[in-house]
Amino acid sequence: MPPPRSLPAGLLAELKAALGERHVLVDPEVLAGASVDWTGRFRGPASGLVRPGSTEEVAAVVRACAAAEVPLVVQGGNTGLVGGSVPPPPEGDRPAPLVLSTRRLDAIGPVDQDAAQLTAGAGATLEAVQEAARNAGLRFGVDLAARGSATVGGMVATNAGGLHVLRYGPMRHQVVGVEAVLGDGSVVSRLGGLLKDNTGYDLSQLLVGAEGTLGVVTAVRLRLHPQPRSRAVALVGLGGTADAVALVGRLRRAGAPLSAVELCFAEGVALVCRAAGLPPPFPGREPPALLVVELEGEQEPLALLEPLIGDPGVHDELTAVALDDGQAARLWAYRERHTEAVATVGVAHKLDVTLPLAELAAFEAEVRGVVARVAPDATLVLFGHVGDGNLHVNVVGPPPDDDRVDDAVLRLVARFGGSISAEHGIGRAKVPWLHLSRSPAELAAMAALKRALDPAGILNPGVLLPAAPIFSTLSTGEVGKTVEGGPGVPNLDDEGQGKALSPEEAR
Ligand code: FAD
Ligand code: MLT
Ligand code: ZN
Repeated sequence: MPPPRSLPAGLLAELKAALGERHVLVDPEVLAGASVDWTGRFRGPASGLVRPGSTEEVAAVVRACAAAEVPLVVQGGNTGLVGGSVPPPPEGDRPAPLVLSTRRLDAIGPVDQDAAQLTAGAGATLEAVQEAARNAGLRFGVDLAARGSATVGGMVATNAGGLHVLRYGPMRHQVVGVEAVLGDGSVVSRLGGLLKDNTGYDLSQLLVGAEGTLGVVTAVRLRLHPQPRSRAVALVGLGGTADAVALVGRLRRAGAPLSAVELCFAEGVALVCRAAGLPPPFPGREPPALLVVELEGEQEPLALLEPLIGDPGVHDELTAVALDDGQAARLWAYRERHTEAVATVGVAHKLDVTLPLAELAAFEAEVRGVVARVAPDATLVLFGHVGDGNLHVNVVGPPPDDDRVDDAVLRLVARFGGSISAEHGIGRAKVPWLHLSRSPAELAAMAALKRALDPAGILNPGVLLPAAPIFSTLSTGEVGKTVEGGPGVPNLDDEGQGKALSPEEAR
């Protein structure tokens, strides 16, 4: 493989003129950090790192890169788990991408108390947004363990889910409007906070979950929620997934004010205890499954717990309750620290799937068998957001580029009627399997949108959709003719069913 071509002459000078010398970085040590993802599974060379400080500067970078046919990889907190925020392995003699960091776009505007909204720059961290909401007596509806680093722009791009989806919905539901730079350098801005605005295509929502393939999000108008007065958290030992699903169903029917219901299993909890130095939650007993139940509302914490404590499936000796924040953090740690605990064992294949709730227990049993068959020496750690039917399947053992276990698990998900990505997105990790969750017509529509909004194909090529050979020799009008069905559409077999590209073909 020839080394990547160096950047076209003049591009660095143009970027330095637009952003200032110190925001165009080519120092190998800086680039090394931006070239590998949080999991360590995905990495690729970057030819530079640019740090625009305004929407206009982002637009200048996008325009310059489109003209020079240099791909851009958009990077927020780099906590994504599907390889979308880092460059791909070197490809042919194309220049390695530039990484566009949004971290300087971190301003947070004042909270509009009456509308319960705020505007945040794309590079603001989740924690900063949560704090701004809290200081105004309100709450931001999404929470996840990477809160200190994950950015609002990255969360919009991935439509992040997290711990409170069952109460507030995913990131998409928090977005009132977005400002972004599209692939041709034009700026679209819907930050006016209008809740009613029926004037055609909703470009803001189109950018949610687009994983940086259509535009660079520069700012977001966010919806806030009332801050509940009190909270109670319980850790409940259970017999397994079926018991957990049944308990969640009973709590829902009883009208319990649930804000999170999170599932983990004995082997994952043991790993967390080892990695984080925590005591076992129920010494001397090892329930097969553990459920973190968080209830929030206006009553006293003990009253919040009533529907749970009175439930016939909940037993005193396997239940720990927390009535204040310190105790709650201690119980939450058994679930929240799974991600970092898994990372201490090795580089994980992270599969993030949703199933119809009625199928979750059968899927969980079957996926254990599938992983044992395909990767017999692997460590399997399951956990997830059971209220949403979202299970995280973590497999540590197979080398990063050995996709057999990913293939087996994602095909099993499709057989069960689930989705191959619940909340992490497709990134580079799951492109070959997107056809398991999306029809040929949907894939063609997605590819058409990509061509329309990023005509030079410079934004995150190879993320979400296969990279298309659209540089240099092709005019924009010819782009759609390069791959049967257009760029981004998987090859179709004779029956018109999507056929997985090999990971090498797709990346
Ligand atoms: P990055 O990792 O930098 O980027 C993610 C994707 O978004 C990339 O494709 C990137 O190109 C694109 N992107 C980033 N910024 C922009 C922008 N401004 N405009 C356009 N595209 C952009 N995820 C969940 O959904 N739920 C969880 O519970 C959860 N928990 C996590 C816990 C831990 C410990 C970790 C490490 C990760 C977790 N994640 C979770 C995954 C991750 O935090 C989310 O995907 C988050 O949304 C990524 O934000 P980021 O700023 O780090 O984005
Ligand atoms: C979680 O739910 O903890 C996150 O999605 C992170 C992960 O899957 O590791
Ligand atoms: Zn999750």
